[in-house]
Amino acid sequence: MKASATFRDELAAATTALEAAGVPGARVDAEWLMAGLLDLGRARLRMDLARAVPAALAERYADAVRRRARREPLQRILGWEEFRGLRVRLTDAVLVPRPETEALVEWALELLPPSAGRRLRAIDLGTGSGCIACALAAERADLDVLAIDLCPAAAAVARQNAQALGLASQISVVVADLLHGVGGPGADLIVSNPPYLPTALVPELLPEVRSHEPTLALDGGVDGLALIRRIAAQARRVLRPSGVLVVETAGGGQATAAATLLRAEDFVQVEVRADLAGVTRFVAGRA
Ligand SMILES: C[S@@+](CC[C@H](N)C(=O)[O-])C[C@H]1O[C@@H](n2cnc3c(N)ncnc32)[C@H](O)[C@@H]1O
Repeated sequence: MKASATFRDELAAATTALEAAGVPGARVDAEWLMAGLLDLGRARLRMDLARAVPAALAERYADAVRRRARREPLQRILGWEEFRGLRVRLTDAVLVPRPETEALVEWALELLPPSAGRRLRAIDLGTGSGCIACALAAERADLDVLAIDLCPAAAAVARQNAQALGLASQISVVVADLLHGVGGPGADLIVSNPPYLPTALVPELLPEVRSHEPTLALDGGVDGLALIRRIAAQARRVLRPSGVLVVETAGGGQATAAATLLRAEDFVQVEVRADLAGVTRFVAGRA
């Protein structure tokens, strides 16, 4: 009878398969996939590599490795991503939350007024998985968030995440085209990580993104600014006096262009902030 493969063997074979498929960081992904199936950390997994892998686990692992070799994003296969300490569930209807968006939330939290003796109101435009809405609500108990997405399947994921994270009493999720149907002015904050890539760039992205992330989450029109332009034009109607709009952009020249758009819509104190890699990426302004 053939001896079962050990964890070391399985990880080595998976690494070879993922390398052959051009997956960057193949070994790390091979470890994450196995650790994910076992619901362990990668460090814990590495402590016991000589152990035999049970047949049922080996089958599930082979399936996960095949999906990754087809360049499905790692987090999509795991079914979750960590965002500001929250485990956010993902489906193919939503963008995998990016680390830079955690810095967008950081800035949004700084821009919110301190406790105002009333409940504060935020709007998360293009909520996707609901990661921004959930992080804001988790970090400010005095904040209610209206999370909006045009895609009903994405809105359903956001709703499930709010529920699973115990934040449903603070977060309402609706399907809408940006601020269409939202009355104003009552919001203290509008935050958005909108689709911002120029249409022509989308086919040039890594296969993980161009083939597996929803196009609705990526495509920002010819110059990438179509959604940001509409948000800037609509936001002041919904914001309280001195309420804040803060958006993520593709960075660099697009951040400068977005700042110009906000000023043209009479926002004041317009500022641009860099992400952790030093790319000027976030733009905020006050109504
Ligand atoms: C870049 S994703 C951001 C998702 C999530 N907020 C995040 O940061 O990971 C943009 C989201 O905007 C949504 N979206 C695109 N056009 C929209 C529109 N006109 N109105 C509302 N949401 C829209 C997409 O469905 C997608 O979920």
